[in-house]
Amino acid sequence: MGDDALSEAAQGGHDWFVSFWPDEPEVGERAWRDHLDGKYAELGEVTPLRIRQLHIRVAQAEAAVERLRRDPHDPVGRGMLGEALDGAVGTTGLDAILVPAGHRPDVREPTLRATWVDAPRAELLTPSPPELPVRTDRLVLRRFREEDAAAFEDAWASEEWTGLLLSPPMSGAEVVEWARRRARAGDNTFLGLVVEHDGVPVGDSILMLQGVGLSQAEIGWTVLPEHAGRGYATEAARAMLRVAFEHYGVRRVVANLDARNDRSAALCERLGMRRESHKLGDFWSKGRWTDSYEYALLAEEWREAGG
Ligand SMILES: CC(C)(COP(=O)(O)OP(=O)(O)OC[C@H]1O[C@@H](n2cnc3c(N)ncnc32)[C@H](O)[C@@H]1OP(=O)(O)O)[C@@H](O)C(=O)NCCC(=O)NCCS
Repeated sequence: MGDDALSEAAQGGHDWFVSFWPDEPEVGERAWRDHLDGKYAELGEVTPLRIRQLHIRVAQAEAAVERLRRDPHDPVGRGMLGEALDGAVGTTGLDAILVPAGHRPDVREPTLRATWVDAPRAELLTPSPPELPVRTDRLVLRRFREEDAAAFEDAWASEEWTGLLLSPPMSGAEVVEWARRRARAGDNTFLGLVVEHDGVPVGDSILMLQGVGLSQAEIGWTVLPEHAGRGYATEAARAMLRVAFEHYGVRRVVANLDARNDRSAALCERLGMRRESHKLGDFWSKGRWTDSYEYALLAEEWREAGG
């Protein structure tokens, strides 16, 4: 190729590149120069589309960090930071568009990942556990201990009690392992507590943080058969809702259940949760397709109802 043809091809590449910034040509020009300078080497795919997404997500992360430093529970800030880092429906976040840490040892330090993914996640999107135990009028909600397994063994062995849970029955050894895993603090997006009455375990209560910016929690519960019908699950769940809204600052709590689980549905209703969906045949559980309900409660609804 002659010099003229080469410079024509380069011009074509440049024009195509900057055409991705039709409303901000000067930003496109700067991005082109940075691209030639190797500043986008950390992108998994070095294309104008990805470079544009990088600019948008970094700006979004920057604005979100500012909001969340003022109020760590700011729901818009959580949505923005969650989307910037992990993407949302139909959008890709920085975590997916940047190469994994250490993948390109030649990229400049500090890396974009360290600055715009790892640091804001550690500062603003890494929940810490609430102060434990949580106490209510009659109950203590505390971390699991290995020896709690004994109290749960009979219930977990029962086909009837586990029938409407997604988990299958468990043997004694499996329950010990389950209690042992829960006893370790583990993942900071999961909180699983034993519900105790007068020093005796009567059930358990869990919260799983999820969704964009970890701004939703799924709640779950059990009460052991010999302690059912006394309102313990309700009292424990009320305490967990408070932890979800006040400590974790989520904007929404959901419960998903087998639609045949009348007692669990009644519990959701007692808590003031709204049945938002009745999905037909969407749960595969224990050899059959079954309907499910999703119940939900928003932070503002919970506050209006007096917390
Ligand atoms: C779902 C489950 C936790 C509900 O248990 P529960 O005993 O109905 O719930 P509670 O402990 O809140 O008790 C409520 C009952 O106690 C009664 N009660 C007695 N004293 C009470 C009090 N001080 N406060 C509130 N309710 C009280 C309520 O009237 C209610 O009884 P009712 O349903 O006959 O009206 C339980 O059935 C269970 O663990 N099932 C197996 C596991 C499971 O399916 N988990 C849920 C998966 S989605």
